[in-house]
Amino acid sequence: MSFTPMIQQYLQIKQQYKDSILFFRMGDFYEMFFEDAVNASKLLEITLTARDGGAGKKVPMCGVPHHAAETYIARLISKGCKVAVCEQVEDPKEVKGLVKREVIRVITPGTVIEGQCLEDKQNNYLASVLGESGCFGLAYTDVSTGLFMFTEYTGENAVTEVMDEVFRLQPSEFLAPGSSSGFITNYLGQNKNAVITTIDEENYKYENCLKLIKDQFGADWVQEESVSLKLGVRAAGAILNYLLETQKRTLQQLAAPKVYFSNQYLKIDSSSRRNLELTKSIKDGTRWGTLIWVLDYTSTAMGGRLLKLWVEQPLVNVHEINMRLDAVEELSKNLLLRKRIKDYLKDVYDLERLASKVSYGTANARDLLALKKSFYLLPSIKMALVSCEAELIVKIEQSLDEMKDLMNILSRAIADEPPVSVRDGGIIRGGYHPEVDRLREASRSGKDWLARIESEEREKTGIKTLKVGYNKVFGYYIEVTKSNLNLVPEYYTRRQTLVNAERFITPQIKEYEELIMGAEDRLTQLEYDLFTELRQKVCAEVPMIQQLANKLAVLDVLISLAEAAQSLNYVRPLVNNSNRIIINEGRHPVVERVMGAGEFVPNEARLDRENRLILLTGPNMAGKSTYMRQVALITLMAQIGSFVPASSAEIGIVDQIFTRIGAADDLAGGRSTFMVEMSECTEIVKKATSESLIIMDEVGRGTSTYDGISIARALVEYIHNTIKARTLFSTHYHELTDLEELPGICNYTIDVREKDETIIFLRKVLPGKVDRSYGIQVAKLAGLPELVLSRAKNFLIELEENKTHNSHKKVISAGQDQKSCKNCSSKAIVEELSRIDPVRMTPMEALNRIASWKEKLENQHGIENKLLKDINIFSKN
Ligand SMILES: Nc1ncnc2c1ncn2[C@@H]1O[C@H](COP(=O)(O)OP(=O)(O)O)[C@@H](O)[C@H]1O
Ligand SMILES: [Mg+2]
Repeated sequence: MSFTPMIQQYLQIKQQYKDSILFFRMGDFYEMFFEDAVNASKLLEITLTARDGGAGKKVPMCGVPHHAAETYIARLISKGCKVAVCEQVEDPKEVKGLVKREVIRVITPGTVIEGQCLEDKQNNYLASVLGESGCFGLAYTDVSTGLFMFTEYTGENAVTEVMDEVFRLQPSEFLAPGSSSGFITNYLGQNKNAVITTIDEENYKYENCLKLIKDQFGADWVQEESVSLKLGVRAAGAILNYLLETQKRTLQQLAAPKVYFSNQYLKIDSSSRRNLELTKSIKDGTRWGTLIWVLDYTSTAMGGRLLKLWVEQPLVNVHEINMRLDAVEELSKNLLLRKRIKDYLKDVYDLERLASKVSYGTANARDLLALKKSFYLLPSIKMALVSCEAELIVKIEQSLDEMKDLMNILSRAIADEPPVSVRDGGIIRGGYHPEVDRLREASRSGKDWLARIESEEREKTGIKTLKVGYNKVFGYYIEVTKSNLNLVPEYYTRRQTLVNAERFITPQIKEYEELIMGAEDRLTQLEYDLFTELRQKVCAEVPMIQQLANKLAVLDVLISLAEAAQSLNYVRPLVNNSNRIIINEGRHPVVERVMGAGEFVPNEARLDRENRLILLTGPNMAGKSTYMRQVALITLMAQIGSFVPASSAEIGIVDQIFTRIGAADDLAGGRSTFMVEMSECTEIVKKATSESLIIMDEVGRGTSTYDGISIARALVEYIHNTIKARTLFSTHYHELTDLEELPGICNYTIDVREKDETIIFLRKVLPGKVDRSYGIQVAKLAGLPELVLSRAKNFLIELEENKTHNSHKKVISAGQDQKSCKNCSSKAIVEELSRIDPVRMTPMEALNRIASWKEKLENQHGIENKLLKDINIFSKN
């Protein structure tokens, strides 16, 4: 038994692309076979058929028309598949038997550049991570824009820092050497939508990587970093290798990998990032209700993406921040200028992604036209900026290239309304190329001739209804109705019979037909050639276009921030290194926006070295969480270079923001609320410095009251005495307010009034404390029935009378809680063990598995020990 030659060819190619769905070009279709066909037919909801595969065997098959392939590929990519596109690389007309086929590109979630798979205002990252003895190299790229970055993490927090960065990036595809499976599983626990591609260790070798990068980007590629950041270089090299292997082209759009360091930016760990809802809401992962949702007034896709980067990476350098603020201030004061530039920017296309399409050779005439239309606006934009004084804008104005040459050639060459396809002609504008004009003329005059033939033949034959027509199969013909057939002359040759008419040709018609068709064929070919030549020219300018795109993006973001500042009534913060945070009449940017202007009650905040910890008490629903997030967001906004929702603000730069907010269960991750809470606290305790801002919202809520109070108290003390970071700490345990004895701690509360057993929230933060929780009043507001409420009141009275517990005893029970958690993880391991089939594992896999269990247990231990230690230290104080 053997398969047909075609299926054999298929299998041979498929062998090299095992983890992709192979799109096998056959004529006008891409066909899929075997398992690919079964899977793809389900994912794409197309019919699964079968084909004779030779030796009497049926092979499962499904297919999609080639002209619609992009849509189908997009759908597969969005479901996390990879697609290997295999084309016929010989003209079937010119070969006997099997045509040669080759995979011309593998499209993967991290390498798509097609618009259908991409979000306008979001980068699409392919990331690569490499870990060795506790250090990590990280590189990432966005092939659709050309961005390519790398960095390295060392020191005791390296693992969590690299995870935090990966969390920020949310890559859609992830490359890693086979050996780092533990790290990846860990990451996957948090982020289910990235595709993981395991890379051969060989491709992570330093020498290979360095050579590859130099070959691609020139031998003088920054040498300092390449020596000092070997892991980063290796991660970048692996990416480059993967791109070259899958994309099979020169990747003109890719910038040389650029090094960056995490301390250039405000550090925000992943849970704080999630909690602060900067670009993604916790509830459903959308933009609605996030900081960027409030701030985004950008007009271009490039600006939208850059704003997201700025929001995700606030700065720490006072000078850089003030440069941005200067520009925002200038633009915010000049409404007319802003409006004028916005009007221009609205008509600028996504230059970065157009540039990528050009360098991929997939740009069509409409794409080049879009470039031309964008370039056309540059002189006006430049002109509008001339009067500006802010350094950042002046720099943009002075270095903005107007792309005149490219603009001119594109204007002369491309027709006003070219078709989508680049193979059908109609692309090149008249007057650009003499041969194009001549061929067009030939085809046009041929058509005129044919029109003349119609009237001549009518006269000659006396058939008044005689018509000259055209169809694809028979070409040009003369049509005569049945009733006139008797008048048809000798020299007509019959070609086709219809119900009411017959169609004929004449030698003369054939002659013109050849002229017209010949001209048209040559014309479309020539237009195609001229077009690709143009595309090549544009391709050579891709780096220029990218620089231009970047400048316009910065301009767009600055205008967007100015626009937000104006329409939302924000002020310029004073940004310095004072270690103070002083906010007058501050508002929460998102809550305010949702409520509507004027509804939100503004509040003060005052933190400095002396008064560095605000202990905020107040009943549920008073507004504690809102207030604390507001302080964090205002600080962060200032460091982005944005104006802030306040009447005035001074922000002494913070190096990190930590937020421990709310009780979000990480059920999927297998951790209870309390466990999540405590691991987040561990992170804070480990990483925070005296320059950080810490927000802790009701820590200890996840466990029993006395455990909770003890842990909260110990944490407050530790942060105050040892870390000395600026901190907002909310609690509904009013027992903690006696901590005020410590010099840097101030009690604040949110004002509420009680009226006829009902509670009224005034939302005003004031110095002072509450001595009760108002839980029952809040429950009443929520509509709990009177019967339940009065029972609750009785219980409360009883409880308050019996309150004689010893908190130290309870501290120990916190440890017991931990033990039950440890049991959870042992249980998980036992369960995993029972599912494993040792016979089907390689020794390496088994070793890895054991190592990951050990890690799990040790992590658990670490947290426990740390906690117990901390608790003991504090309770002794
Ligand atoms: N300053 C404010 N002005 C107006 N409404 C507020 C303010 N602060 C909070 N709120 C409203 O009160 C609700 C409860 O606030 P929240 O911060 O969750 O309270 P807590 O954390 O004290 O339970 C919020 O959903 C918000 O709508
Ligand atoms: Mg709250």
